[in-house]
Amino acid sequence: MTVKFILNGEDVSVHAAGETRLIEILRGSFRLMGAKMGCLSGRCGACFVLLDGKLTPSCLVPAFQIRDREIITIEGFTQTDEYHDIAAGFAQARVETCGYCDTAKILAASALLERIPRPSREDILAAYRDVKCRCTEPENLVAGVMAVAALRQRRIYGRNA
Ligand code: FES
Ligand code: FES
Repeated sequence: MTVKFILNGEDVSVHAAGETRLIEILRGSFRLMGAKMGCLSGRCGACFVLLDGKLTPSCLVPAFQIRDREIITIEGFTQTDEYHDIAAGFAQARVETCGYCDTAKILAASALLERIPRPSREDILAAYRDVKCRCTEPENLVAGVMAVAALRQRRIYGRNA
């Protein structure tokens, strides 16, 4: 089947069997390697993308479900102003990232702040429940996302936000 969808802001199409996983399409057909092959069962977060703005494990999405939908991968997301807020906020709070978890940690912050611009500690911990990392203390993560939220508000609404 041929599936048309929007990938990092561009209209694209791909030929694939309906059951082909989105992660295979991203890596195999588009050479986008930011979504990693981890557990392939929706448990580790290594393959996260934003699907219509929602944090989604691309290993669980079959090709037939992406028709006409919008997908943003970490490669596309790093071109945005929002990414720079996240990078700066995480650095301020010493949030660790590595090649295994960076995609999940970054896109989880974006999806959360899109829903809740000023999240509470509980909102943040809930949003990161499926992001596996033992290297960052939960309190650093909370401080990091709160720093990102403040930077984001200032960028959008000006100095006094
Ligand atoms: S590889 Fe998709 S959640 Fe682990
Ligand atoms: S910093 Fe990547 S898994 Fe912990």
